[in-house]
Parts: sequence; C-alpha cells; structure tokens
Amino acid sequence: MTERGVWEEFFDAHAPVYEENVFTRNTLAEADFLVEELSLQPEASILDVGCGTGRHAIELARRGYAVTGIDLSSGMLSRAEAAAAAAGVNVHWVRADATRFALPGAYDGAICLCEGAFGLLGRADDPIEQPLSILRNISRSLKPMAKAVLTVLNGAAMFRKFTNADVAEGRFDPLALVESSEYPPREGLPPVGVRERGFVPTELRLLVRLAGMSAVSLWGGTAGNWGRRALDLDEIEIMVVARKASGPPAGGESR
Ligand SMILES: C[S@@+](CC[C@H](N)C(=O)[O-])C[C@H]1O[C@@H](n2cnc3c(N)ncnc32)[C@H](O)[C@@H]1O
Repeated sequence: MTERGVWEEFFDAHAPVYEENVFTRNTLAEADFLVEELSLQPEASILDVGCGTGRHAIELARRGYAVTGIDLSSGMLSRAEAAAAAAGVNVHWVRADATRFALPGAYDGAICLCEGAFGLLGRADDPIEQPLSILRNISRSLKPMAKAVLTVLNGAAMFRKFTNADVAEGRFDPLALVESSEYPPREGLPPVGVRERGFVPTELRLLVRLAGMSAVSLWGGTAGNWGRRALDLDEIEIMVVARKASGPPAGGESR
C-alpha cells in the first residue's frame, strides 16, 4: 500500500468538520462571481482543482455547468459525492493529485480555491515545482483563451506576521516562503505537521507565464471577502485570474 501524503491524511480526518469552517459560508456569492469572471457560456465545462467537499463544483453543476472535481482526499470526495447526490446534480469526481492530473484542452474554465492543492506541499514537494506543475496542468486542461481563478496564500502577510524567532525555530522559511505548522485535523486527534506556501504577486505572474497563461488580474482574495479590489498586505489570500494563451507558450510546448 502506498503511504498517504500529509495533506491526504489531514483532509481525510478533517472532512467531517470541513464545512464548519467559517470561510466556507460564501459559496453562492462566490459561484456568482466565478460565473462572471470566467465568462462562462451556458453548459460550459469547468475543472475544480482541490475541490474538497465540492461546495463550488456542486453549486456550479446546479447552474447547468459540466463540472469535474479533483481532489487527493477520498474523505473529502466521499462527502462531495454524498452532497451532490443530495442536491440531485451530476459532477465527475476524480481522486487525483493535482500535480499529475490534466485532461488536455477539455475545459472552458478552471478554479482552484481556498488554496485547493496550490502550495499545500507534500513531504517531498519542491516549493517552486509543486505550484508550477499545478498551473501547467490547469493550463493544459483549458481550451485556448479560457480562464482560471485561483485563491492562494498571501506571502506578504506571512512576511509581516512571522518574526526572526519564527525563522530560527523553523516555523517559517523566508527563502521558500513556507510556513510549517501542526494542526489536529479534528478535535481529539493528534496534530499533523503540514507545510503551506505563500506567494507574492510578481512571482504569481511569472509562474502563470511559465505555465503558458497570462495573469489578467491579481486581487485581494480572502474567502468571505472576494471582490475586484486591491490586495491588503495583511490578508490571508490573493486571487489570481489567469487566461490561457491562444497558442503554445513561447519557447516550446507547455508540460
Ligand atoms: C482548503 S481545501 C479547499 C477545498 C475547496 N476548494 C473549497 O474552496 O472549499 C483544500 C483541498 O485541496 C486538496 N488537496 C491538497 N493537496 C492536493 C493535491 N496535491 N491534489 C489534489 N487535491 C489536493 C485537499 O484534499 C483539500 O480537499
């Protein structure tokens, strides 16, 4: 049997309480925002990367879109399946690692929200390669000119929050922009050690470009406070809206 990764272990155990998190309470307004921002035509196809319990995927399917939700955690996916059945909608659920999953040219839009998989580093993940491979897979999966919306951890807030003592004691790596912490996935369970990557806007533009897309907008994107507005340096998340180029990226094919 292959060893479960840390995030899989964390989210399998967190799944029963995931939707108690306050940041999950704005799904309807977020779906409105996504439909507009992704310029979705009726019945468009959407890829939801790191879909979790499927709250966006299910709401978008309810509005008539053809949605694929991928996630590493079977615990999160079984909640998603049950919720979709209860809502009477069809979503194509796939258990997959977002660093390895692409369906070339299949989608009119993609989302990767509340980090999804982006920057949630497994034990062996490289802090640059992990997010880049996810963006490349999103880019490959999109049709030309299609857009993606991602919300990712804000590295500026990490720089402002952590101290030199945090660096010395291994809670924050300022060279990789990685926070290391331990959380119990649910009350009563032992903590799981996890690594989460923050990003700065210039780097996001570069990563998006390396993946064969261009950044259309970078906004403040903290869950519960989405809007077309400037990034607040202390907020938790940045929203990236990216568009796939009309042809292959300069210098060769996207991987
Ligand atoms: C914070 S939850 C966000 C869920 C959902 N997008 C939302 O907005 O509610 C992050 C999800 O990403 C999944 N995930 C983490 N790393 C992943 C990876 N490498 N590939 C696919 N899914 C991953 C986790 O299992 C978890 O369900």
